[in-house]
Amino acid sequence: MVSNVEIRDRVNDFYTPLKARAVEIERRYRELSPTSARLSEAAKAVEPGGYSRDAVLRKPYTLYIEKGEGSVMVDRDGRRIVDMWFNATSLPLGHADPRVVAAVSPQLAKGTAFFGRTETEIDLARILCERLPAADRIRFANSGSEAVMIALRIARGFTGRDLVIKFEGCYHGSYDDVLWSVGPPKDKIGAAKSPTPVAATAGLPSGLGRTLVLPYNDFPALERAMADHRHELAAVIMEPMSNRIGLILPSREFLEGARRLCDEHETLLIFDEVIAFRLGYRGAQGFVGVDPDLTTLGKVVGGGFPVGAIAGREEIMSVTEPDRAGRVAHFGTFNANPVTMLAGRATMEALTPESFEHINTMGTRLRRRLEDLCDGLPLRITGVGSLFKINATSQEITDYRSSLTRDAEWEQVASLALLSDGFMLTPSLQGALSTTTTYEQLESFVAAFEALIRQ
Ligand SMILES: Cc1ncc(COP(=O)(O)O)c(C=O)c1O
Repeated sequence: MVSNVEIRDRVNDFYTPLKARAVEIERRYRELSPTSARLSEAAKAVEPGGYSRDAVLRKPYTLYIEKGEGSVMVDRDGRRIVDMWFNATSLPLGHADPRVVAAVSPQLAKGTAFFGRTETEIDLARILCERLPAADRIRFANSGSEAVMIALRIARGFTGRDLVIKFEGCYHGSYDDVLWSVGPPKDKIGAAKSPTPVAATAGLPSGLGRTLVLPYNDFPALERAMADHRHELAAVIMEPMSNRIGLILPSREFLEGARRLCDEHETLLIFDEVIAFRLGYRGAQGFVGVDPDLTTLGKVVGGGFPVGAIAGREEIMSVTEPDRAGRVAHFGTFNANPVTMLAGRATMEALTPESFEHINTMGTRLRRRLEDLCDGLPLRITGVGSLFKINATSQEITDYRSSLTRDAEWEQVASLALLSDGFMLTPSLQGALSTTTTYEQLESFVAAFEALIRQ
């Protein structure tokens, strides 16, 4: 019989050789991207640490990009890189799609922002309400974070309650009330059934107060917490596919149970589909079999321009109606910006059921190829639709705790090596495909990954 110690040693034997090459892999990256290295240094004089966007942080530095063409980005050193993350999943048609370019270009000359509205706003709103099973009305904002912030305000305004439930390991953007237990360190997380809320950043208002953190995918824990906080809960906000935990779908029991409990407790169920909307023509809610009360959107619906949106049932969204007493206010200089609306409409029109079928089939095939490659190794492939993740673990990932078994250092080193080979994934090896991704690119990527793990 094989002992646990032997299993652990075998697993470490697999991860150690690549991690031991970290210095050599970084040296190669630096040699290939001298201009990005120089610009990263220059940025430090004007941006703290050289960054304006935490999401793109990468060690030793992030590439500076000259342009994007379909599924390829060209960096400032002229290297062509196959994009396998598409600005955090937000470009399902790839870079500079001709239909999007044609839609927005005339508007640049006609004016890009007015203290007034444009008709395209109604078109995009109609398209999204028609597609989302749980949306009668929609409001546009400028980012997914803003959409989450406003959705929670609407939920609090509608229910007259304060408390919100979010799940451990889930990221919902930059708003204070959801910046709890996003990726907390192992030594701070407390008991699995009742996680200790951990601030994801300094500067949050002290004490939790308005947000309760629960384990993802754990229906009994949700049931208990909702019973304990009866009459206090405005909303449960969840990703119907969790991105940061590992691009996984929760169990049917958890989703359907959450819906039932929210009905029982008169609490709103919010699906954060800022990423998940790209999984299907009607978003994740189109196939998971559960309708939320509110949906937050972002990324793909702006066609490559900054965007956010809050959609939901008329009865709930009507709390934002202008004439309503005690209404929920929602401001924003660039809400429903004309350029964003045109790019969003062009993107939605291009994203037909057939194009979802195409990218999702590509995603399934890629995940299968990677699974075959990783068979017998301590690597797990997760993902849904056109999204995938390579996890440096031998354990099944079902929640944040199980995702912590990953060797994050191995993933980072592998990601940097792949970037030097010409493939951009996140530092934790998450990837996304677009309609411009080709099977040839996927085969080249699989070959590069195979070479990496066989070395
Ligand atoms: C599920 C989810 N919600 C909200 C956000 C925040 O969106 P934005 O970065 O546009 O503010 C993100 C961003 O990645 C996200 O993945």
